[in-house]
Amino acid sequence: KANTMWGGRFAAGPDAIMEAINASIGFDQRMAKQDIEGSRAHAAMLAAAGIITDTDAAAIREGLLTVLSEIEGGTFEFSTALEDIHMNVESRLKDLIGEPAGRLHTARSRNDQVALDFRMWVREQTDAAISGLQALIQALLAQAEAGADWVMPGFTHLQVAQPVTWGHHMMAYVEMFGRDMSRFADARKRMNQSPLGAAALAGTSFPIDRHMTAQALGFDAPASNSLDAVADRDFALEYLAACSITAMHLSRFSEELVIWSSAQFRFVQLSDRFSTGSSIMPQKKNPDAAELIRAKIGRIMGAMVGLFTVMKGLPLTYSKDMQEDKEQVFDAADSLMLALAAMTGMVSDMNANVDALERAAATGFSTATDLADWLVRELGMPFREAHHVTGTLVAMAETKGCDLPDLSLDDMQSVHENINAGVFDVLGVHNSVASRTSYGGTAPGEVRKQIARWKEALK
Ligand code: ARG
Repeated sequence: KANTMWGGRFAAGPDAIMEAINASIGFDQRMAKQDIEGSRAHAAMLAAAGIITDTDAAAIREGLLTVLSEIEGGTFEFSTALEDIHMNVESRLKDLIGEPAGRLHTARSRNDQVALDFRMWVREQTDAAISGLQALIQALLAQAEAGADWVMPGFTHLQVAQPVTWGHHMMAYVEMFGRDMSRFADARKRMNQSPLGAAALAGTSFPIDRHMTAQALGFDAPASNSLDAVADRDFALEYLAACSITAMHLSRFSEELVIWSSAQFRFVQLSDRFSTGSSIMPQKKNPDAAELIRAKIGRIMGAMVGLFTVMKGLPLTYSKDMQEDKEQVFDAADSLMLALAAMTGMVSDMNANVDALERAAATGFSTATDLADWLVRELGMPFREAHHVTGTLVAMAETKGCDLPDLSLDDMQSVHENINAGVFDVLGVHNSVASRTSYGGTAPGEVRKQIARWKEALK
């Protein structure tokens, strides 16, 4: 039989395959709360504008709460024949309250309805992402505070470059996740306009009050163009872009944790709570959480590319293609929140191996730059010449199989006669980091300033 919601011009119902490809209820039921909230605001507005009676509006608003409790209680029976969450809710409302249910959809279309529901869903997830990032940043700040003085190697090309502090390294991620937070906050500002009342695409002849519903639903304003209001999915794309960049950061950090927890590095020990064992090798403790977080970027960025591809050639305004906007966003949101929670747990639990960090910091001639800087400062040498002299000393140490501080003063003076014993003061890793006091540098005092700034900012 024909669909009860729009079946007037239809003699026959849809083919089973048509029903299967057309229905979105399997996934858009996740927007039930938003759908009902939007409908309740719409009904209140219709009554305030004198379009429906107060009695009908009250029955609708009350009935919708019953529907919501049925859905949340798991007793609601979703119907594929009713396509989507919007028609499932309205149909159940009709069972519950009868005729007034039919007045709810006055001056509204599923086009503005779905745009509204999805926008509110994404807005909620945007807030959740910001909270999740905040928790992760707190965990990183605690690590940074504990290890503001611990020395570790800083890398370029994954080769030891210069000594840095553990705190400085943790704070690098605080900066990254802090930018992510602000990206979500920016996206939220732009997404916070209400499409409700755009109706199908052209607006409506009923004297509706779009400002009233916008305000009731927490929006800054109604969207200004009805065509754009129903055709726009930028809010979801921006959300996914912010998710993707966050996931990229999480992935880079995970990669470091995988490397750091290896037997070759032993920089950190991950907790049992965030590791797994092997079914055959009894000694194994694997960083599975880090590996899975490292991989989540695949589906999260995939969702972004997927939605861009759905949207790219669509003419204004609504096309059914746009029903394909949701599942990937849902999946990306779930993946991101899980990854953030796992990373936060892992970071809170992890133990740095301070001795191993410091030992590694001294390898690879990591204070060679300090030596070159000393030649410039103390002997007035041009930096390029100092670079060359230091390079010669590194080659000498390499031949002797020792580190720079192990060379004798005689060795040093055989390369440049003016070098004196003062040079040994700058060859230690602690002196090295302590000297890097430029703004944003790795000196513990500088790092502590940044920690304090962030703690203040997060208050
Ligand atoms: N289920 C649809 C979606 O997710 C709702 C909008 C349907 N609108 C329409 N004109 N068929 O996009």
